[in-house]
Amino acid sequence: MTDGLNRRQFLDGAAVTAAAGYVVSRGAALAQDSPNDKVVVGVMGLSRGKSLAQRFSQQPNVEVKYVCDVDSDRAAAGAKVLEDAGKTTKPIGDFRKMLDDPELDALVCAAPNHWHAPATILACSAGKHCYVEKPCSHNANEGELMVEAARKNKSIVQMGTQRRSSTSIQAAMQFMWDGGIGRVYHSTSWYGNVRGTINKGKPAPVPGHLDYDLWQGPAPRVPYYDNRIHYNWHWFWQWGNGELGNNGIHALDLCRWGLQVEYPIRVVSAGGRYRFDDDQQTPDTHNVAFEFEGGKSATWDGLSCNRHSNDFVTFYGETGSLVVDGGGNCRVYDEKDKVSKEFKGNQGDVEHITNFVAAIRSNDPKSLNQEILSGHKSTLLCHLGNIAHRTGRTLNCSSENGRIMGDEKAMAQWAREYEPGWEPQV
Ligand SMILES: NC(=O)c1ccc[n+]([C@@H]2O[C@H](COP(=O)([O-])OP(=O)(O)OC[C@H]3O[C@@H](n4cnc5c(N)ncnc54)[C@H](O)[C@@H]3O)[C@@H](O)[C@H]2O)c1
Repeated sequence: MTDGLNRRQFLDGAAVTAAAGYVVSRGAALAQDSPNDKVVVGVMGLSRGKSLAQRFSQQPNVEVKYVCDVDSDRAAAGAKVLEDAGKTTKPIGDFRKMLDDPELDALVCAAPNHWHAPATILACSAGKHCYVEKPCSHNANEGELMVEAARKNKSIVQMGTQRRSSTSIQAAMQFMWDGGIGRVYHSTSWYGNVRGTINKGKPAPVPGHLDYDLWQGPAPRVPYYDNRIHYNWHWFWQWGNGELGNNGIHALDLCRWGLQVEYPIRVVSAGGRYRFDDDQQTPDTHNVAFEFEGGKSATWDGLSCNRHSNDFVTFYGETGSLVVDGGGNCRVYDEKDKVSKEFKGNQGDVEHITNFVAAIRSNDPKSLNQEILSGHKSTLLCHLGNIAHRTGRTLNCSSENGRIMGDEKAMAQWAREYEPGWEPQV
């Protein structure tokens, strides 16, 4: 915040007061700020990030000081969109420059998945808050580290599963938790699309407008191919998490939220690459199932190559069911399977950002609709589903933390190798 103490000044001050034997909570220092104080953010990764930058810039008294992309064409395009709307911003290529800026309050990370945890952890260590896109991590270990980094630095970290802030879904969930469909014991979820082939790629010169070294960042170096950047990295384990970590996370997060469950105790997977013989590694057809303590379960069916799919998320209770569509509209069905109630609404895109900015102003991580610990638990369902798929095994997990029990081979996929020098450190 630019009025009162900014975060860097507070941290410096905290170091001084700690050395002098005082304990000052960050909340106490930031209490000098009012709800109207300016919040300064920088956005990293400008495809999804371009629309996030626009939405942040439309929030009252929020400045998008930087738009950052390692593709200079995208950085320029991101800046132009804001400038056309009458805003001032700086296009940059290296996000570490904004973390060095004492005026910056928060990083908004919409870079590819392999960047989410390392960038968030660097942001927290620099005394910043972070809005990090879904899935919050590339692997399970990183999610645990992100929670640790947020706690250690007292950072406000929100994962970008925006439906958590949808007013219609919130109202429908409350109706369900109040007994509207009886005891809820199961949920199913779906995603369908008609994605094409990415063909077989060829090694190629790196385009002049792309800093491929910084694009790879924490991921071990591999040669540049002509069919992976942008977007298709989602289908390579090196950087992405397949459709499960791309669209499955949105639906499974709602399942976990509605069922009021934390970590699964059993995970199974079926599926494969059935449609195209190309370079993609992640399944194009994928079913995952999760069992939780207390007699509850959830499934997700992902069809990347067929759009005919079922409802986004359905909850099953003893006296009815609740359907949530992808747009945030909800319908309740009674025991005779007749619609008995509807909640019309929104996907929560703007509301999720408003919630994050308000949490910064009140310095209250508990007011976040998708705090990083909750984001990690939902993302973990995707990592476990992918590990079950890649090992071909049923995973038995601890209800305390989701860790895989009695299977070293599966647990070996809990973490990743890093490019030397880029290992996340909390
Ligand atoms: N919440 C949502 O509804 C939603 C929607 C779309 C995408 N996403 C998430 O946003 C993320 C990005 O997805 P996308 O579809 O925009 O991918 P994309 O590949 O189209 O765009 C990613 C951008 O990040 C840039 N980038 C890579 N490394 C960078 C770095 N070190 N610094 C700055 N920029 C860097 C790339 O150059 C590229 O422009 C993914 O994690 C995805 O899951 C979320």
